[in-house]
Amino acid sequence: MTSKERIKRITVPEIQGRKGSQPIVCLTAYTAPVAELIDPHVDLILVGDSVAMVLYGMDSTLGISLETMTGHGRAVVRATQKALIAVDMPFGSYQESKEQAFRNAAQIMCETGCQAVKLEGGEELADTVRFLAERGVPVFGHVGLRPQNMHTAGGFRRHGKEHGEAIQIVNDAKAIADAGAFAIVVEGTVEPVAARVTEETPVPVIGIGASPRCDGQVLVTEDLVGMFNTFRPKFVKRYAELGDQLSRAVQSFAEDVRQRRFPESEHCFRAEPHKISG
Ligand code: KIV
Repeated sequence: MTSKERIKRITVPEIQGRKGSQPIVCLTAYTAPVAELIDPHVDLILVGDSVAMVLYGMDSTLGISLETMTGHGRAVVRATQKALIAVDMPFGSYQESKEQAFRNAAQIMCETGCQAVKLEGGEELADTVRFLAERGVPVFGHVGLRPQNMHTAGGFRRHGKEHGEAIQIVNDAKAIADAGAFAIVVEGTVEPVAARVTEETPVPVIGIGASPRCDGQVLVTEDLVGMFNTFRPKFVKRYAELGDQLSRAVQSFAEDVRQRRFPESEHCFRAEPHKISG
C-alpha cells in the first residue's frame, strides 16, 4: 500500500462533530482478527473490559488488569486503520485519584496507540475527567448501568426507572460532558431517560440498551454474532449465529478424524518415495 492509499483514522473531533447528525456506529473488539473484520464498517471500536466476561469467562468485568487491557488494545490498534479506538480503563485504575487516572490513561495510550480511554462514572468523577481532558487524554464517558459498579447497584439491572435515579443519570452525563468528555456511553437505561440524556448533553451519546434517539449505538460484537451465550441481554439483536456454526463445524471435523476421512490427499504434502527411503 502506498502512503497515498493509506486510510485516515477517524478522529476525536470528527466523532464530536457527529452530535445530532450522522449516527455513530460502535462495536467492541478484543482481538486482531475481529478488529480487522469490523474496522471497515464501524466508526469507533471499543476495547471493552467486557473482555473479562466474553473471552476470559469471568462473571463480572472487575477482575481484568491494566496489563491485559493494554495487550488487547495493542492487538486491536495494530489490526485497524479506520476506526477510532478507545480502550476501557479497568476497575481500580482510575477511581483512587486524578493523578492515578492520568498515569494509567497515559500508560494505556502510550502502550497501545489508542486514541481515547473510556471510564465509568458521573458527577463524582467530573474532576478526574477534567484533569485528563486538560492534559491531552480524550475521555469517553459511561453512565447509567455501570458494570464496574454492579455490586453497589445490586447487579446488572435497568437504570433510570425511579425519578431520583433518572435525574442522577442526566446530571452525570451533563457533568462529565462539561468536564471535557468527548462522547458518552449510556447503558441499560430506560428509553425516555436515555433520550433525555441525548437531548440535554452537548456531546455524542452512544446507547446500549438505551434509545434509538441516541447519537449512535454500541453492542458487544460477540453478542451480535451469537458467540457469547452465557446470557443474552434484552437489548441484544442477533445478526448471526456463529456459535452454532462453529459448533457444527467442529462436530464435522471430529467425525472426519474418527472415521479417518481427514486429512485427504489434497491436505497432505507429497514426496517422491526415494526421498523418504533415502
Ligand atoms: O465493556 C464494554 O464492552 C462496554 C460496552 C458494553 C459499552 O463498556
